[in-house]
Amino acid sequence: MWGGRFAEGPGAIMREINASIPFDKALWRQDIAASKAHVAMLGACGIVSAEDAVAIAEGLDRVAAEYEKDGVPEDWDLEDIHMTTESRLAELIGPVAGRLHTARSRNDQVATDFRLWVREALARADAGLEALQRALVTRAGEHADAIMPGFTHLQTAQPVTLGHHLMAYYEMVRRDRARFCAAAERLDECPLGSAALAGTGFSIDRKMTAQALGFREPTRNSLDAVSDRDFALDYLQAASQCAIHLSRLAEEMIIWASQPFGFVRMPDSLSTGSSIMPQKKNPDAAELVRGHAGRIIGCTTALMVTMKGLPLAYSKDMQDDKPPVFEAAGLLDLCIAAMTGMVADATFRTDRMREAAELGYATATDLADWLVTAADVPFREAHHITGAAVKLAEERGCALDALPLADLQDIDARIDERVFEALSVEASVAARASYGGTAPQQVKARVAEARRELGMD
Ligand code: ARG
Repeated sequence: MWGGRFAEGPGAIMREINASIPFDKALWRQDIAASKAHVAMLGACGIVSAEDAVAIAEGLDRVAAEYEKDGVPEDWDLEDIHMTTESRLAELIGPVAGRLHTARSRNDQVATDFRLWVREALARADAGLEALQRALVTRAGEHADAIMPGFTHLQTAQPVTLGHHLMAYYEMVRRDRARFCAAAERLDECPLGSAALAGTGFSIDRKMTAQALGFREPTRNSLDAVSDRDFALDYLQAASQCAIHLSRLAEEMIIWASQPFGFVRMPDSLSTGSSIMPQKKNPDAAELVRGHAGRIIGCTTALMVTMKGLPLAYSKDMQDDKPPVFEAAGLLDLCIAAMTGMVADATFRTDRMREAAELGYATATDLADWLVTAADVPFREAHHITGAAVKLAEERGCALDALPLADLQDIDARIDERVFEALSVEASVAARASYGGTAPQQVKARVAEARRELGMD
């Protein structure tokens, strides 16, 4: 393609290090779409004849049909998807193919193709996350009253409801979707026509190509347009944050599925067995979501480091932008699908959750709060009195509300029989009715609101 200036072709190592076709062939649909938009514009602006524009567009359709049928050929000499397509076009339609590359460069071409690809990845993530939200609100609605221990430091803290716990993830996913949407909003500018870096002397119509490719507007600075990979980093950063959330949910499912917890039975469809231990049902899908989060973060780091020292405009380092994005997107799509299936089909063992909430002195704070409200004890003192009650219950191996009143009164005479109404786990969750709290009434209100947000009701 640049033979005019060179006495000999590239050496074997140059060819190998330079070739991006092994991975950027994934951009073929975007590359054909962008070329068709470009040539239609060249025709409309009289830069190529109407006849040549039609011949080129038809030729591009033929190349696309071949790729569809037989895949994209991988010839390292042709370096990348752009040259591969142009070279096949020339074989099919002859020298007129050479007019396609008027008023553009591979630099604006690849920036455009890659944006189109990332735009689809953003839309896929958003749609996948919407399905996950639906699964979360459905299960939360089923279990708005189911009591389980809430934890801090993974130690029993206060009773919460399973519905509240699942809705916590709904909120995280809601923010993740907002991040993907914000990325799509910023991405919505078309680099095509920025040419190599400085724009072009041909009187092109950039609004026309931007519109044809579904972008809001053309980019406003040609140097920025060919150098910018923020759109890919926006995607990766949003993907990383989302993967962190999915990984935390996966981690909880793994803990909950362990025998000592026994809070959840994983769906068979997302579990595996052991080749030696017949009793085993392993949460491999959840573990891989936790593992893949690490890889997605790694991809993000890789592209941030690639970009951080690059002068304007294009440098070949930027060819390394695609593998991490492709890898992360494949992993993220799978992680979202796996967690959606897990949430939708897991069996929550609410009997075990309730039992655990009863056993962990989860209502100790309620005893302290009761002393403050009913007996006007300062909170710090109430905390101390309650500590003594927990110690006694621990010695007896019983729950707080199983301690006889006389023993509680030995600890502090201000305690009376009304305290037992506050010590049940039901009373504890029902009391936490502040906005956003775990009281079933609050959880049901939030579930109803979320269902409306999702158009489920
Ligand atoms: N394969 C290249 C990439 O993916 C296309 C752009 C090449 N541009 C250039 N000036 N060599 O980045």
